[in-house]
Amino acid sequence: MGLADVAGRRDGPHPDESVGPLERGFSVLREIARAPGGRLRASELARGTGLARSTVDRVAATLVELGYLRAEGDGRELVLAPAAATLGNAYLRASGLPRLLAPLAEELSARLDESVSLAVPDRESVRFIVQISRRRAMSVAFRVGDALPAERCGPGPLFAQDWDEEQTAEWRRRVERDPGYETFPALPTHHAQQGAVEGFEQRIEAARTEGCADDDQLVEQGLIAIAVPVRAADGPVVCALSVVSHTSRQTVASLRDAALPAMRETAARMARRLDDAAVAAGMEAAEGGGVAVAAGAAADGSAAPPPEVSAKPAVAQPQPDPTSAAKQQFGPDYLQSLARGISVLSALGEGPQGLTLSEAAAATGLPRATARRSLLTSVRQGYVATDGHRFRILPRVLELGYARLSQLSLGELAQPHLAEVVRTVRESASMAVLDGEDIRYVARVAAERIMSVDIMVGTRFPAFATSMGRVLLADLPRPQREHFLADTRLKALTEHTVVDSAALMGVLDRVAGDGYALVDQELEEGLRSIAVPVRDPAGSAVAAVNVSMHAARTSADEAKAVVLPLLRAAAAAIAADLALVSGAAARRE
Ligand code: PHB
Repeated sequence: MGLADVAGRRDGPHPDESVGPLERGFSVLREIARAPGGRLRASELARGTGLARSTVDRVAATLVELGYLRAEGDGRELVLAPAAATLGNAYLRASGLPRLLAPLAEELSARLDESVSLAVPDRESVRFIVQISRRRAMSVAFRVGDALPAERCGPGPLFAQDWDEEQTAEWRRRVERDPGYETFPALPTHHAQQGAVEGFEQRIEAARTEGCADDDQLVEQGLIAIAVPVRAADGPVVCALSVVSHTSRQTVASLRDAALPAMRETAARMARRLDDAAVAAGMEAAEGGGVAVAAGAAADGSAAPPPEVSAKPAVAQPQPDPTSAAKQQFGPDYLQSLARGISVLSALGEGPQGLTLSEAAAATGLPRATARRSLLTSVRQGYVATDGHRFRILPRVLELGYARLSQLSLGELAQPHLAEVVRTVRESASMAVLDGEDIRYVARVAAERIMSVDIMVGTRFPAFATSMGRVLLADLPRPQREHFLADTRLKALTEHTVVDSAALMGVLDRVAGDGYALVDQELEEGLRSIAVPVRDPAGSAVAAVNVSMHAARTSADEAKAVVLPLLRAAAAAIAADLALVSGAAARRE
């Protein structure tokens, strides 16, 4: 019996009590998350969800206002946007697993020189929460948030050992309902896997006796994996540690020989880390800080949350309800109950052991009855588990767009914000990263062509003579900056180019202090450019964004007065999006 079902029957909302707009919001997000490219037209959304077009429009308008969706193409096309990662982040933070275990997974991956992943049970399926990829051969790469059917991967049989009859029945119902794996968009469907369902029981038995489970090309031809369980102190499997390889390098037997001992050692260290965190959280609870640690697998098949070690109290300070102002501002098209439901669900990220109803109401500034209806609606939708007292966010929320968002490149994140700048200033805006002695463009929104060379993604310029290069160089520690200037050929590109390394060092010091760089016709005559850094959550400048202007059209003073504030706002918005979708992974450019 799943916890969700228990709650749904015991004190779940009477249908009148469930929050319709929240249910419809979930179904719109699910539909867009599954669509190619994470984008759909409103008409397609209406067809896919079975909702009326006018309902889709109101739900979408509210999700756009929350930053979960973006409207493109005259508002007719809806695209998943970074704030939608908030819900997945809430689960990942509450579970604490990536923070506690990803460093050990990284170590194992480096030691074996193979891809390593961590997955958690999600009802009758398996969901990835950490991916460390060293994939060389052509094969699918799963993302954090992707789900696989339990019978078609290594972790599945490990989790299924803990299933009760009801969960096994749920699995059977899914197998019957979805024989073509339509509900698993991450699975390459072209390869129908013979015997995966029939052989599942035997693999569960083997997992029980051997303490590990193989995947011999159950996902796709060539891809093989071995998984071992990571258990909490009192037994239940919290997550599975997998090593993934390819038949061009290994057989399942050789992968077992090569990887199993190190995998078991790592899994034991992971289990100790979870136990240590449990003890620390227990001590904090005894001192009146957090809440008591209750280990043990939840009846819904999701692993019990590992305790967090946290210096701050488990529950956030009471917040004013932010949806009230929005309702006033946006009027009847704004579905306040959808916005409130989402804010309650994301508040569950604050409590590693879940929140009580009172805590959830306090954290969101909502009346208890409102918070209760939202929570019970989320329980019925499979996103929250409850024992009737505490409410805990489940890994299934990752299906609401997390996988797609965690995969966006820096350039893709920047694009809509650069477009906004270009709409306002009617000059071109770009993003670039430092690459050796050059900057390399990773995003570009052109207003018109004003340079003699056409710039596109991939274009390179000498870093020292460009505004974006200068903000990136200014962010380097001083010795590295000195090396850069000593090793780089400083060739004049126009009569204005600063080529004296001492002078350049002074320029970079000033850029570091000002937080922007203005370059006046040093790269090309007639071209003026202003740039600011884009910082990652750790504070490093990972990229720069700029606006380039006709020197004759925009004076340096105007650039500073008008363009700079807009550029700073864009850089801050990109950095905020980057923080939302970063998870534990490093970002592609
Ligand atoms: C993966 O991490 O991509 C993975 C893990 C286990 C499998 C298949 C793929 O069985």
